[in-house]
Amino acid sequence: MSEISKAFTRGNWGTRVGFILAATGSAIGLGNIWKFPYITGVYGGGAFVLVYLFCVLLIGLPLMIGELMIGRRTQKNPVGAFKALHHKKSIWQITGWLGIASGFLILSYYSVVAGWAIAYIFKAAAGFSGSTEAIQSQFGALVTSPQSSIMWHTIFMGLTIAIVVGGVKNGIERWSKILMPMLFTLLLGLMIYGLAFTDGGMQALSFLFSPDFSKLTAEGVLSALGHAFFTLSLGMGAMLTYGSYMKKETNLMKDAITVSFLDTLIALMAGVAIFSMVFNYDLEIAAGPGLIFKTLPVLFAQTGRWISIPFFVLLSFAALTSAISLL
Ligand code: ALA
Repeated sequence: MSEISKAFTRGNWGTRVGFILAATGSAIGLGNIWKFPYITGVYGGGAFVLVYLFCVLLIGLPLMIGELMIGRRTQKNPVGAFKALHHKKSIWQITGWLGIASGFLILSYYSVVAGWAIAYIFKAAAGFSGSTEAIQSQFGALVTSPQSSIMWHTIFMGLTIAIVVGGVKNGIERWSKILMPMLFTLLLGLMIYGLAFTDGGMQALSFLFSPDFSKLTAEGVLSALGHAFFTLSLGMGAMLTYGSYMKKETNLMKDAITVSFLDTLIALMAGVAIFSMVFNYDLEIAAGPGLIFKTLPVLFAQTGRWISIPFFVLLSFAALTSAISLL
């Protein structure tokens, strides 16, 4: 086969574990570690989490199975897949384009937030110190400086592109196999620290797992549903494309359940780790998008670099494996 035709041959996952780690890597990202804790804080905790779990189980999981199935059956990208499945004139063909458009839109801000995460690795290494105000103002300085935001965004996109250029097996699958276990280990360490070594562990568990339905709003329910889509990488062409690299004989149902389970597990672990620290240091629960960039650094000033550096490294890894799938 010539080099050119090789370059256009559709890749396949090398192993089943490789696919599961890559798809889990797509699912686990800023959504789990940045967004899930902050929206849980904003929408009141337990009841919101329960609705979110129902959305994942009853809507997200079946949709993921559907997307993977369409990809595997057609062995095409989202646009090609919907073309292959419909008559030439069918309006449903635009579904594939919508997936590409939403992937593009998501990646365009995702890479900016991920760039902040990388910037914070360096801030963590330099150490957070000084007054609460001084620590928190670092975030404002970063996000209001176009030069800094563009620079960190470009670094992040450079890493993402480098891995994608490596191809399905040698790029995405290889790096997912390295990054995902590291991410899991780091998060497990942070969660154990939160539960065993801070006084906020029990409060965090009760905030996340004892539902108080009086705090649940219609907006919260909608947000839980939207988040189930976002966190499982649905409707953005990613799972469909990953499905298209699957071999026909794989047990797709089992794999989708595994991916959804791991994604949910990581979100809950991140929630426990973060809220243990939030409760222990009496920080603002409903701090919103700034929760991990403004609120947690105040605490990191006390815990030191050995917690803050792994945390932002973890966040960057998680973002990278998702951005790969979006690209
Ligand atoms: N599924 C990805 C995330 O949760 C987009 O970050």
